[in-house]
Amino acid sequence: MKRKRENGGSMINSHFAISEYHNVSEVYSGLDALISLPIRPVKREKLKGYMEYFEKKCSKSKEMINAAMNFIPGGVQHNLAFNYPFPLVFTKAEGAYLYDIDGNKYIDFIQAGGPTVIGSNNPVVREKAIEVINECGPSTGLFHEYELKIAEFICTHIPSVEMFRMLGSGTEAVMASIRVARLATGKKKIIKVGGAYHGWSDQMVYGMRIPGTGRFDAHGIPRSCTKHTQEVFPNDLKALERKLRWNKLRGGTAAVILEPIGPESGTRPVDFEYNAGVRELCTKYKALLIFDEVVTAFRIGLSGAQGYYNVMPDLTVFGKVVAGGYPAAGGLGGKKEYMSYLAAGLQGAKKRAMVGGTLSANPLSSAAGYHTLLEIEKTDACVKAGQAGDRLTKGLQKIIEKYNLPFVAYNQGSICHLETSATMFVRVNMKRPWTLPEALKQIKARKHMMEEMGAAYMAEGIVTVAGSRMYTSAADTDEVIDDALARFERVFQNIEPAN
Ligand SMILES: Cc1ncc(COP(=O)(O)O)c(C=O)c1O
Repeated sequence: MKRKRENGGSMINSHFAISEYHNVSEVYSGLDALISLPIRPVKREKLKGYMEYFEKKCSKSKEMINAAMNFIPGGVQHNLAFNYPFPLVFTKAEGAYLYDIDGNKYIDFIQAGGPTVIGSNNPVVREKAIEVINECGPSTGLFHEYELKIAEFICTHIPSVEMFRMLGSGTEAVMASIRVARLATGKKKIIKVGGAYHGWSDQMVYGMRIPGTGRFDAHGIPRSCTKHTQEVFPNDLKALERKLRWNKLRGGTAAVILEPIGPESGTRPVDFEYNAGVRELCTKYKALLIFDEVVTAFRIGLSGAQGYYNVMPDLTVFGKVVAGGYPAAGGLGGKKEYMSYLAAGLQGAKKRAMVGGTLSANPLSSAAGYHTLLEIEKTDACVKAGQAGDRLTKGLQKIIEKYNLPFVAYNQGSICHLETSATMFVRVNMKRPWTLPEALKQIKARKHMMEEMGAAYMAEGIVTVAGSRMYTSAADTDEVIDDALARFERVFQNIEPAN
């Protein structure tokens, strides 16, 4: 049974990872200053030392990646993996730590890209996963009790979700959400917030990472696929209303899709009131509101970012935490009236949104996800991970201040951002094509600095998300965070002086 507070928020958990909302204008003024300055990379002499680390201490990784280059494009298959100077090969994950094939130990701030709020390779979840595999193997193609358990848990805890359908990935779940929105509204246009990542389906490779870039990354995707995708600048309700009004005269908007903490996992933060403003506009223009909670559901809190902001979307996209780091992590939830378009089986009544997946909702993913969610609830993991994120961010801010650096650290609980080169904040204006070569040059230089920073952190024993983001987990004790801060300080002590 769904239990709700008067105001629509979930009463099951009022504990959230975010203890204090960041000062959005302060974050942006820091980022504006950072992007206006020349880059400040690690001193060349120090960088040479870091490169030696990879050559001397990571030889088995190097050898394996060189072999992989012959069989795997680029030698690596994860977009978040490090490529500079070469990717490392990891063999062991445990709580707050990762170990590479050469036996080096690292603090794990990638956390599998976000799913492991309780820490990597949690033993309770692992035991349950092994139990399921021993009993029925990872999949049967038929119903398993764990499907009901996880669906019931999600419907009970995420306030706007009455029904849930598990899918293979966040990308698939976004595709399903758009299909349902188009069926439910009879409209075609989808508005996304510029810079957001909603997976890699044809229609969503649009305005990725940097707002305003439209089809910049849509190589191999016909124009017709993105014909009905539009983007608006983040945190700008007026721009959104203009777009909705424009669409109203041309057949209307099926949905607005957004990441509630801001695009690219909150890299571009939004005002606390932004989501409520979008909700109002969606209602006014009869468009569905889709929250992409792939990163935030069960990380910001057990009731998701929607519980935190107390804003109820029509559809919620899930991923990552719903399988606890195990394969096939995705799902869509929402009101019955919309979810009924996803009825599977042979009895599908009304027009059906076609979704599928041989391995969707398999017993292994469902069991791993369910027990991960139970553990999160039992141990108050979202709050603990958030406290670790606060400690890390505050510590980084102090170090940045101590060495008088232009870098910017901010966080949404356990999602921590550390901008040193502000690559995603380079201004790209597609309407002024003559400015593009200079913008591309900037992006290239700033991206390379980000890679160097990532390599420096790695050589100091810290794995980050692409050198600019850290996911903390409940396994990050104060000691782990303080140790990480000492390592970050060793990098920040050695930054090139301003010219
Ligand atoms: C906000 C958001 N939406 C969707 C996706 C896509 O999910 P998946 O990688 O499971 O396809 C991601 C992945 O990082 C994401 O961060």
